[in-house]
Amino acid sequence: MAHLESDFLKVSNEKGVGWIRLHRPEVLNALNRQMVADLVGLLESFDRDENIRAILLTGGPKAFAAGADIGEMAQATSVEMLHLDPFADWDRIRHISKPIVAAVSGYALGGGCELAMACDLILASESAKFGQPEINIGVMPGAGGTQRLTRAVGKARAMEMVLTGKPITAQEALQAGLVNRVIPVEKLEEEAMKLAEELASKPPVALRLAKQAVLKAAEVGLEEGLDYEQKLFYFLFSTEDQKEGMQAFSEKRRPLFRGR
Ligand code: CAA
Repeated sequence: MAHLESDFLKVSNEKGVGWIRLHRPEVLNALNRQMVADLVGLLESFDRDENIRAILLTGGPKAFAAGADIGEMAQATSVEMLHLDPFADWDRIRHISKPIVAAVSGYALGGGCELAMACDLILASESAKFGQPEINIGVMPGAGGTQRLTRAVGKARAMEMVLTGKPITAQEALQAGLVNRVIPVEKLEEEAMKLAEELASKPPVALRLAKQAVLKAAEVGLEEGLDYEQKLFYFLFSTEDQKEGMQAFSEKRRPLFRGR
């Protein structure tokens, strides 16, 4: 299945991993509407491709993304924003069923931080900086920054980041629970690829449902969440991969998962 590169995105596909690099380096990967639309289209096309089992999203050494494109929004009126509804595209990211690993170096600010948080795992290089600086340009986060950040790092830290606009370092993001790991800059992509390949080796249906169940925890109460988890667990007993996984364990061999 062919996946279209665009002016702002570099794409490849190897070892079950669909790999996307944000590429608009002259403006630190500022996310204009076209770039977000292309990115979301690509994520959805990876999601439909049976040969892709995990997705890796990265940027450049200086910036993962320094936010939504300010130039594009500067003169807009609220009515225009309402009609354009730019965040409708962003919102489609949460319906991607395959796991997405974000590999972040340099700036992940505003929409860049929000994009990383819309992914499932974040690996940060030692140079990464995460922040929601929208307050400094007269607005506030609009693509999930007040919601996902608060869920990830708690009210105190989120409130400070959103109200002051000050970014935090990769180490601070690790301590706060925003990222999974901090990695030396030169090793970031290799480690992120290893993680994505590891995910790609897992049983795809269980992987997809496990992702859904973890995301559900941020949305519902414990009883509803446990009920949801149990139903998905029982459902997995209708898959060949469950039979294969448990049989391979008994036979002390590696399982071969087919996504069925
Ligand atoms: N939009 C458009 N252009 C941007 C940009 C953005 N978000 N971020 C950087 N750029 C451009 C700069 O204008 C500059 O272009 P020129 O060379 O043509 O002047 C180029 O990228 C390099 O940037 P700087 O010269 O500013 O680089 P620096 O190293 O001095 O500073 C920075 C880096 C601290 C990230 C600074 O660029 C900056 O503060 N950027 C804006 C960050 C921001 O406010 N992001 C939030 C955007 S709003 C948003 O994201 C809303 C939402 O919720 C989705």
